[in-house]
Amino acid sequence: MKIVFSIGGSILAPEGVDGDYVGKVSSFLSGISEGNEVAVVVGGGRPAREKISVARAKGASWAECDHVGILATRENARVLADALGDLAVEAIPESIHEAASLFGDRILVMGGTEPGHSTDAVACLLADWVKADLFVNASNVDAVYDKNPWENDDAKPLEEISVDDLIVLLEGEGMNAGEYPLLDHVALKVIKRSSIRTLVLDGRDLGNMRSAIEGRPFKGTSVVS
Ligand code: UTP
Repeated sequence: MKIVFSIGGSILAPEGVDGDYVGKVSSFLSGISEGNEVAVVVGGGRPAREKISVARAKGASWAECDHVGILATRENARVLADALGDLAVEAIPESIHEAASLFGDRILVMGGTEPGHSTDAVACLLADWVKADLFVNASNVDAVYDKNPWENDDAKPLEEISVDDLIVLLEGEGMNAGEYPLLDHVALKVIKRSSIRTLVLDGRDLGNMRSAIEGRPFKGTSVVS
């Protein structure tokens, strides 16, 4: 299978980069890469958000702030690629085109590409380009909920949701640098137009993530077209 993961900065770099998680997820990816072609796009986490808010306070435009965020995601990607060593492609691609050309035997690791969207969008665009069988959105959100779980105690996790319903559910969420919701507009558009098989799950539970990829029951949400 061709699998593209988006690993949220929320779990890779909740404060700074979490070395313990980097070690665990590297072993996980090493196992998954046996028999599969794998790419991993990583988010920026707290380092990105801090740098973006300093830039914004100093008068930077949103696009400049995005660029600051992109550089932070690429630093995180470098850390993960180094942890994977020879299993990973050495270069950290800076465009989808470059990433697609390097996708294959080794695990491809990258961060952001250009301003205006999230690393989830980068992962979806790459999944689209290489005709991936599966896109896995792995973050600190363990499922899609019927309403915002941070604001509603009675929010219920959904095992399945259509991409159209997800678009409606996430409408009106943030669009600024460092503020993207579960999946941003670009990611949702690409999932919809190319009917990309998508799973939303907690990326810290690596046993659950393996079950999901192997088609066994898992905790999380399948986004269906
Ligand atoms: P993300 O929003 O993707 O990372 O990128 P995050 O904040 O860690 O979120 P999760 O946990 O992965 O969901 C950080 C910021 O970098 C900029 C955006 O400003 C984004 O909010 N960025 C990232 C871009 O502008 N373009 C990209 O291709 C990627």
